[in-house]
Amino acid sequence: MTTISEEVIISDRITLKNGSGDLRYFELRFNGAEAHLYLHGAHVLHYQPAGQAPVLWHSQASAFDSKKPIRGGIPVCWPWFGAHPNDPEQPAHGIARLTEWEPVNYSATEAATTVTLRLPAHCYPNASLQLSLELSEQLSVTLTTVNTGDTDLRFTEALHSYFAIQDIPAVTVTGLEEQHYINQLAPDASLHTQTGPISFAEETDRIYTDTAHDCTIIDPPLHRSIHISKKNSLSTVVWNPWIDKSKRMPDFGDSEYLEMICVESANCGPNLITLAPGKTHALQLNIHVKNNMK
Ligand code: BG6
Repeated sequence: MTTISEEVIISDRITLKNGSGDLRYFELRFNGAEAHLYLHGAHVLHYQPAGQAPVLWHSQASAFDSKKPIRGGIPVCWPWFGAHPNDPEQPAHGIARLTEWEPVNYSATEAATTVTLRLPAHCYPNASLQLSLELSEQLSVTLTTVNTGDTDLRFTEALHSYFAIQDIPAVTVTGLEEQHYINQLAPDASLHTQTGPISFAEETDRIYTDTAHDCTIIDPPLHRSIHISKKNSLSTVVWNPWIDKSKRMPDFGDSEYLEMICVESANCGPNLITLAPGKTHALQLNIHVKNNMK
């Protein structure tokens, strides 16, 4: 990887900067809002709407190393979510978050500031993958897969967003009431139905399946709610590692579970994607924040 020591100004709203661990990122600006997109993993690490607190969380213990994933922000899980389906030697959550992506397009218009990256062509056969980050009054992330081969392409995926919250026991997630979920912590990955809003008092690791519903993270101590909508996504993963798992993860602070919640827009578990040759699939996540609870 080439190292840059100075910023590269792409436009008055897009700058390429050198971040932690010499990893390069684009800073996007729009009407006082700001977002950071790392080339490593096409990883959105930071989003701050105008005049508000940061919306995405990342760990103070995160690695910033081209061989490791970043802990926090929005890791891209592709072309598999979780463990590889049949090779335990392969990295968790796929190869996309461990690869340096290439810039393909920039735009700064009255409506939005946008940067698009692609996974280098040699990284994965028979597929092309692009991530587009659009900053406007909200944040939109679109992960587009094209099957460039001549047989069906099967994959799972997630935009594994980590959100900043004040205090996990005070937080609820609404929008998934009556939806079915797989409890990933149960030895038999048992199936359940959600009753009421989701609240947190222990380790939580669930795949809500066959649901395209929007979700809202309600955070009374921070006086804000984070609205998450999605397109072409039938799974929502909800994860908080709680106390013991936080201690086991080397890139996660022991008490950081209190200040984060993952609500991930995904196609995983039974919602595997099968893409015919020449076809395109675009997973989209939209994040909109409201300070409406004072
Ligand atoms: C979540 C999974 O999406 O990601 C959890 O549901 C997993 O099982 C978590 O622990 C973090 O994964 P990783 O590979 O980034 O440590």
